[in-house]
Formats: sequence, structure tokens, C-alpha cells
Amino acid sequence: MTRSAHDSEKGVALSNIGSYEERLENFDWGIAREVLSWSDDELLNIGAICSDRICARGHADKVALIWEGFGDRKSTYTFRDLKVRSNGFAQFLVDQGVAPGDRVCLFMDKIPSLYFSFLGVLKMGGIAQPLFCAFGDESLEVRLASAGTKAILTTQKHVKKVRKIMERLPELTHVIVVQGNPEKLKDGEVFFDVESAPPVEEFDVYRSGPETPSVLHYTSGTTGQPKGAQHVHGSIWGQVLTTSWVLDLRDDDVYWCTADPGWVTGTSYGIIGPWALGITQCVLDSGFTSSRWYQFIQDNRVTVWYSAPTAIRSLMRDGEEVARGYDLSSLRHLASVGEPLNAEAVVWSEKTYGLPFLDTFWQTETGSIMISNYPGMTIRPGSMGKPFPGITAAVLDLKTHEPIEEPGNVGLIAFRPGWPSMFREYRNQPDVYRGKFAGAPDGAAPDELRANPDLWYVSGDRSSIDADGYYWFVGRDDDVINTGGHLVGPFEIESALVEHEAIAEAAAIGKPDKVNMEVVKAFVTLNPGYEASGDLELNVMNFIRKKLSPLAMPQEIEYMDKLPKTRSGKILRRYLRAIEWGEEVGDLSTLEDD
Ligand code: PRX
Repeated sequence: MTRSAHDSEKGVALSNIGSYEERLENFDWGIAREVLSWSDDELLNIGAICSDRICARGHADKVALIWEGFGDRKSTYTFRDLKVRSNGFAQFLVDQGVAPGDRVCLFMDKIPSLYFSFLGVLKMGGIAQPLFCAFGDESLEVRLASAGTKAILTTQKHVKKVRKIMERLPELTHVIVVQGNPEKLKDGEVFFDVESAPPVEEFDVYRSGPETPSVLHYTSGTTGQPKGAQHVHGSIWGQVLTTSWVLDLRDDDVYWCTADPGWVTGTSYGIIGPWALGITQCVLDSGFTSSRWYQFIQDNRVTVWYSAPTAIRSLMRDGEEVARGYDLSSLRHLASVGEPLNAEAVVWSEKTYGLPFLDTFWQTETGSIMISNYPGMTIRPGSMGKPFPGITAAVLDLKTHEPIEEPGNVGLIAFRPGWPSMFREYRNQPDVYRGKFAGAPDGAAPDELRANPDLWYVSGDRSSIDADGYYWFVGRDDDVINTGGHLVGPFEIESALVEHEAIAEAAAIGKPDKVNMEVVKAFVTLNPGYEASGDLELNVMNFIRKKLSPLAMPQEIEYMDKLPKTRSGKILRRYLRAIEWGEEVGDLSTLEDD
């Protein structure tokens, strides 16, 4: 199958990447500087690059953000607005005593202030820590405690969760409410509505450099609580070049990234890459329905759309006829990330929109797209495509960690370290960081690991590579659950489950789901005096939804007399998972026994 997005019939002759093969041969990350027309005396600060710099280059009046919320709320902001509103946040934070290097959590819906404050935090040298606002108080608490967060920007709608945990977070000294009724604030909270405050024309932007910490994203693993992947301002080179070559954005595009900035897609490609390039973006802050989404594309003449397989499958479920009711002719390029994009979805989108969704693969830790299909490349539906030029990728033998040469054999997806947007550390967890590198010398520091071209950063996913170099995703190599493109850690869910008075022990796994790929299923044993019942199941589900998030809420709870364990008492999630997925359970003696 070949792409039609750049056919001359659409009036667009060339893609930004041109020939993938030629780019591979002549690659140099310095090309990203050319793409931005960068001169080396400029200030490398993502907040300023995405706003002040676009204004300084003569595009202050260009629309930066078209925002729509529930109902018919709609507003439009120019790059000048981005500049003065992000300045507003930056100045306010400085006035409050927030200093460079402090972690500032952004905990709100996808409202305009989320975007302004993200840039504002970076402009004053702070570390932006966006968190998905559907997180419950416990999910919020572990991430704020781990980050030693100093300030949180939130809204009246979400501040209650912060109040519940405040007293256990001594380092969290500033609670700033950016939307709502100022009269509803509690003692110690501050109100700041940037849109009704006077615009701040000038702000003395923090003199950051390529290694200055910028964004901190939390991501879940199999064991332990979530880990904070720390990014730096120099990540921008990876984000800009992939935005140009994969998302193919041009000056006159209207781009829609459906991801929430609480997750890495929503910052790398929902803020940084596109705005650094001065592209007009749209944000829709309302729930999903197919018709609402199509209406949004039609009304805003969206040209490039970056979304996720779960959304695409939901659109498929609602059928082609719904799509036919809208004028979607503005679309010229579609891409997808976060979960396996099944071949049927690619074929369906080609049939329905005249364009296939192009799959892209990457992670919170990688900061930018690593494996992808490219405009103009022949795509193989179901394949993730090929490594981005400048990325050295391989699949490693599961045991020896040597690259597999034989096409079609399954191994661990791995990358040679050192690309610009690679995460610099897991906050306060150097051992866990080291554990991500095959062959890492004992005690090696994060900087040494990143600079060592003989190591492999191991992604935690399995894939094969076909004879032509296309990657085919197989599954994760760990117990992390991917529900609708969002990772949830089983440990977090299990820890929360056993806090419920009725539950003695718990195991959480992903069970297959048609739309979300996986949903959470919990296996529990009960404390004496409790009986299995439908009511209890509902009660437990709600308990987890409130504490953690709707994503982590088990969709099913199975009561057991005892959970399968290793001799040393570790719960055998892989065994439960195999049964759930109808896979070979295998020889139990070969399962982990540590
Ligand atoms: O398991 C892979 C899956 O999502 C994981 C990364 O999740 P996160 O760090 O939250 O970042 C998501 C968005 C960048 C990966 O380790 N994943 C991501 N993209 C794909 C994918 N699985 C299959 N196909 C993809 N294209």
C-alpha cells in the first residue's frame, strides 16, 4: 500500500522528509537546527522558542491555538497571546518565590492555561510536571512526593484532590488555582487567572542550555511506583526533526494532536514540536464521540491529525457512515501512536478518509518518535515502520542481548543511546535507569550510560524485523498494562487494592479488549468476614477509580481462594495473564522463581 497524502491530486507534491533512504545516508542531527533556522547564539529555552521566537520572526499574529471545550466554548489565541500569557505565568511564579529547577506540577484539563503555564514554567527555568487530571489523590500523591514538587497549578474542579494530600507533602508549598471561583479558595491557596490578568509583554527568560531539565513525565513499570523520566531543553532537536519528517507539518497546516499533555505525546507533539515550528494547533477539551471529533475536523479544517489506535478503533466501531456525514477533505496526513495499530485500522482509514494512519512507535523515555512510517514510504499495514534516521535500532536476543540478524525472529526493541530527546534520568533512581541498558557497567552514572555508544537502551517491548527492515510489534516484555494507549503499572493497582478493607491479596493484569486493546482485570482474595458479591465488586472498582484513575479501575474482579505464587511468594501474574489470553501457560517450573 502506498500513501496518497502527497499525491499531486491533493496539491501537495513533496513531503518534508523526501526520500527516507537518502535521509538515512546523509543524516546529522544538525539538520534540526537548519529546520528551525537556528543560530548558535540563540537562547535554548523551549518556552521561549515556542512563543517569543515565533513572534520575533514576524509571526506574532499567526494563530497558535484554536481551543474548543464542552458545549460551544471556543477561543483562538495567536503566538503573541502565547508569549504574553506564558510570560504572565512565568512572572507570577517568580513573584511567588518559585525558582529555577523547582518542579511545578500542572494538574488541569486541556484548558488554554495548561498550554500557557507549560511554556511559562519552562521560561522561568522551572521543571514542568504535567499530570493527567483524571488521576485520583493517591496517584497524584506518589508522583508529587517522588518529584518533591514545590508548586501545583490546578483548577477549582481538581483542587480537592490536592487538599486531601497536602499535609503529607511538606515540599509542596504553593497551590495555585488558575480557573474557578476565587472565593472558594482555602487558606494558603492563591488564585491566578492569566486571561484576566494584564498581559506581561516582557519577561527575562531563564538562560537554559541543552542539558537544563525541562519536562518531567511519570511513567509506570512492572515493579514499584511510577518513575519520573526527566527531559531537558535540548530534547527539542529530536522533537522538531520528527515533527517535520514524520508529522510532515508545514506553515499553513492546522494540526490536531488528540493527546493530553499529562502524557508525553501531548507535550512532545501537542506542544513542543509543532509550536517550535510556528504551526497552528487545535485542542479539543471535551469527551469523545465520533461526531464531535468529525465536527471539530470539519469546522477547523484540520490538515494533520495525530491520534491513537483506541480512538481509531472507536471511530471504526461507529462506522464509515458517520464519517461520510462530514466534510473531512481538509485532512492530508494521519499518524498514530501509543499501542499496536492493527492492519484493519490502517486499511479502514484509507478506505474511509482516503488516507492510512501511519503508525509511530516511541516512549516517554525516548522523548521523540523512534520507529515510524514516513510520508511517501510504502507502508505495510500492521508494521510500525522503520527507525527514524539518526536512530540506531535493533531487536536483541531475549537471553544474550545480542542483536538478532535473522529476519522474523522476535527480540527486544533496543536503541543505541545518545539521541537528543532521550530522557536523562529516572528521578532519584539511578539503579533503575542503569537497569534499562544492556551491558551497563556496575555503578555507571546516567551521563556515562547515555554517552556510551556500545550499550543498548532496552525499551521493554518485543518486535521482529522483516527482511526489508520493517518492525512488527509483538508485545511488551513486562507486566505493564496498556489500556487505550496509557500505561498502568500492576504494582500501583495491587497496592491500592489491598488498601481496601475487604481485600487480602491482589494481582492485576491486562485482559483483552476490542477497543482499548487491554483493560485492567484484578484477581483478589478476601479477608475473613467478607463475601464475594456484585456489590463488593462495584465498591472495589469505585475505590480504585477514585484513588488512582478511571484507567486503572478494574473492569472485572475475580475472587480466588488463593493466588498463584512462586515458592518465594511472588504472585505469578504471567500465569494469570496466560490463562486470560488463552495462551500456553507453559511449564510452571520455568516461570520466574525469585
Ligand atoms: O509498549 C509500547 C507502547 O507504549 C509504550 C510507551 O508508552 P508511553 O511511555 O506511555 O508513551 C506512549 C506514547 C509515546 C511502548 O513501550 N507503544 C507506543 N507506541 C506503540 C506502542 N505499541 C505498539 N505500537 C506502537 N506504535
